[in-house]
Amino acid sequence: MCGIVGYIGKERAIPKILNSLKFLEYRGYDSSGIAYVKNNKVNIIKEVGKIKALENILDINIDSKIGLGHTRWATHGGPSVKNSHPHKVGKFTVVHNGIIENYLEIKNELLKNNIEFKSDTDTEVIPALLDFYYRSDKNILSVIKKTINRIKGSYAVGIICEDDINHLYAFRCGSPLIVAKDDSGYYIASDVPAILSFTNKYIILEENEIAVLESNRCEFYNLNLNKIKKEIKVFEGTYETIMLNGYDHYMLKEIHEEGKVFLDTLNYYVKDNSFKDTMINLKKYKRIHIVGCGSAYYVGLIGEYLISEFANIEVTCEVASEYRYKKVFYNDSTLVIIISQSGETADSLAALRMAKENHVDTLAIVNVVGSSISREADYTLYVKAGPEIAVATTKAFLAQATLLSLLAIKLSGKLELLKELNGIENKIEYLLNLDYRDYAKEIYNHDNVFYIGRLIDYALCQEGALKLKETSYINALAISSGELKHGTISLINDNTRVVGICTKKEIMSKTISNLKEIKSRGAYVIFITNEDIEDDFYDKKIIIPKVHDIIEPILTVIPLQLIAYNVAKYRGCDIDKPRNLAKSVTVE
Ligand code: AGP
Ligand code: GLU
Repeated sequence: MCGIVGYIGKERAIPKILNSLKFLEYRGYDSSGIAYVKNNKVNIIKEVGKIKALENILDINIDSKIGLGHTRWATHGGPSVKNSHPHKVGKFTVVHNGIIENYLEIKNELLKNNIEFKSDTDTEVIPALLDFYYRSDKNILSVIKKTINRIKGSYAVGIICEDDINHLYAFRCGSPLIVAKDDSGYYIASDVPAILSFTNKYIILEENEIAVLESNRCEFYNLNLNKIKKEIKVFEGTYETIMLNGYDHYMLKEIHEEGKVFLDTLNYYVKDNSFKDTMINLKKYKRIHIVGCGSAYYVGLIGEYLISEFANIEVTCEVASEYRYKKVFYNDSTLVIIISQSGETADSLAALRMAKENHVDTLAIVNVVGSSISREADYTLYVKAGPEIAVATTKAFLAQATLLSLLAIKLSGKLELLKELNGIENKIEYLLNLDYRDYAKEIYNHDNVFYIGRLIDYALCQEGALKLKETSYINALAISSGELKHGTISLINDNTRVVGICTKKEIMSKTISNLKEIKSRGAYVIFITNEDIEDDFYDKKIIIPKVHDIIEPILTVIPLQLIAYNVAKYRGCDIDKPRNLAKSVTVE
């Protein structure tokens, strides 16, 4: 959600910042802006809409060696030029990601001191406070400390002070921020992909740390303004991993990486049908809470079924935004598993912190290395999906489902099940290479699509429906098939498109009966299954290779992803960056 970038060094800042902003587009935004220095003064250019619009009004040849860039996802004040970042008050120019919860109180106080505000944002109180404190204290670090102590909420902030244009300052709490270095200078950015075309060396800024960047050096401070040492990390992936490499869309590219992602995740935890040391021992836990948002919640539901069924452990799965506010019962043998691709989702992070406050052990299942959730959890199991750029998650979901299968096997102690995962990558490739266009053609000009299934198939229905909603803007509803006749069947008519999923033999006849009820009311049915059943209750079918139940979901999700992708393509949607959505939702 929103992106920040900054540069100070020997080269021109604007082309670098524009380049980085383009790699931050996937996070979701509605406007963008850049600050640079000319004749010792900070200039700001901002525009509503895509970065292209900003590029059109920007002189790329401006010779500034320092700059800040921002893609805004509006939270306070609509998307407009005046609300876009950077914001400048007095000497201080700021870009901010997050929300300042006590901004009204601060704003009212500053208004009484005759400080003027030009925007409706919460952000503007940050430069206003910095400038206010600076009037009586010319030490910028001390001014930053006072500001951090005054604001509440989540923030990653980049700062240029007009009196000190040889330094770029940054601090964070709650929203992610990294510092990176190449031969020409230093960068700040919301994530690694933003700077990967320049460098793969980065440093993670922790909560309430301050970075002071110069052209040829960088220093870090804690909130007591003591200097601290930071570890330089090297990003595993290359620039290539974040390029389209000939694909039309990142979503398609990422789906086609799923065979590799499966193997990378498997091989990280398993060798020769045995677990490696990378897989932790969780035997002491008798009760598991799985928590996540959106697709991470749906994959959590898959985990709930797999772990309870195979490991005989009581598992519940909850949406993080509910979990964090409800009465939750813990005991000594409870483990809380937080699932998150980005590792930065605000509600999931809050759920993790809630569990920790209750002295409950926590495990993070995360894709982005070094993200907040991975750092704060007691244990972390990384999935090996690599950078995921499309807003709609696909390969990370598959990697999470793979890891949950491994976890179920580990917790069950039935290690012989590991061999069921051998050769699954070939079945993934088979499904990736089927042609889904005919299925998509049946769906793309319809307003409502229903996904029905039971148990683990119902979890997949929810993921399938979400994929369609977010990429195609079609109203897609997942229904547990047994619930149909308790109401929703009233919506079925001869124009309705239904995707029925059944991969479990024990409930096959039940789901088929429900599909027959639907078919007899005129609906068009696409049946996704692993049994080749000849019957008249469907119009089209997709046969998934039959594999052990513990791994079936990772195959079943592939047609759902590719149908959604093709429908979105037929509808001409902005597939990788759907409207209103952000890749990582760092605000509540
Ligand atoms: C998935 O396609 C969605 N974009 C969204 O539901 C996402 O899964 C959710 O916001 C959770 O994100 P996270 O995995 O980064 O925590
Ligand atoms: N809350 C700030 C605003 O609305 C920042 C939003 C963002 O993170 O982009 O301007």
